[in-house]
Amino acid sequence: MDKPNAPSCERNREPILAVLRDRFADRRKVLEIGSGTGQHAVYFAQAMPQWFWQCTDRADNLPGIRQWLDEAALPNTPAPLALDVNDAWPAGDYDAMFSANTLHIMGWDEVQSLFLHLPGVTTKDAKLAIYGPFNYGGRYTSESNASFDEWLQARGEHMRIRDAEAVDALAEAAGFALIDDVAMPANNRLRIWQRTR
Ligand SMILES: C[S@@+](CC[C@H](N)C(=O)[O-])C[C@H]1O[C@@H](n2cnc3c(N)ncnc32)[C@H](O)[C@@H]1O
Repeated sequence: MDKPNAPSCERNREPILAVLRDRFADRRKVLEIGSGTGQHAVYFAQAMPQWFWQCTDRADNLPGIRQWLDEAALPNTPAPLALDVNDAWPAGDYDAMFSANTLHIMGWDEVQSLFLHLPGVTTKDAKLAIYGPFNYGGRYTSESNASFDEWLQARGEHMRIRDAEAVDALAEAAGFALIDDVAMPANNRLRIWQRTR
């Protein structure tokens, strides 16, 4: 099997890392949901050796992630775990969670499931960082996001750009308050919450 490659990771990894370096500076155990190829994990874990970076994704994606992790052979990226947000989650004490470009791929019920499970895998002061496109006030932030959303919905009715306010409500219900919302290149956002209860 050829090693998978996501060119978007090459473009967005440095701007994301620039934010995480600061906002996750005091974090030690990061759970990544929907790692995709594992490219973000390799880049971030190499740059920040103090982070223990746990990749997860649906079982189908694990062989590709393993290829990236095995090749990098970093001491802080354990073997990826199979985790579909719909299924049972392993217990955990992660003080950070990261996910990129996943909320618009999952159905809304899956997004809900993700947030429902968060308290069970995180510490009481955990931080959560989610990267991707968001709508605000029911509106697209750009023409390119509007076109992207049309393309997504043509691929699958369950896929769409999420409303930031609706995601905040799920986070709030899970005990996480929004602490930052950083504008990123290509009309994406890196939104950060912290667990308060
Ligand atoms: C567009 S890819 C993003 C991958 C990677 N995070 C990135 O930014 O390149 C969306 C990812 O979400 C994952 N995903 C979709 N539905 C999921 C679910 N129900 N549970 C866990 N992961 C899911 C997919 O397997 C895929 O890896």
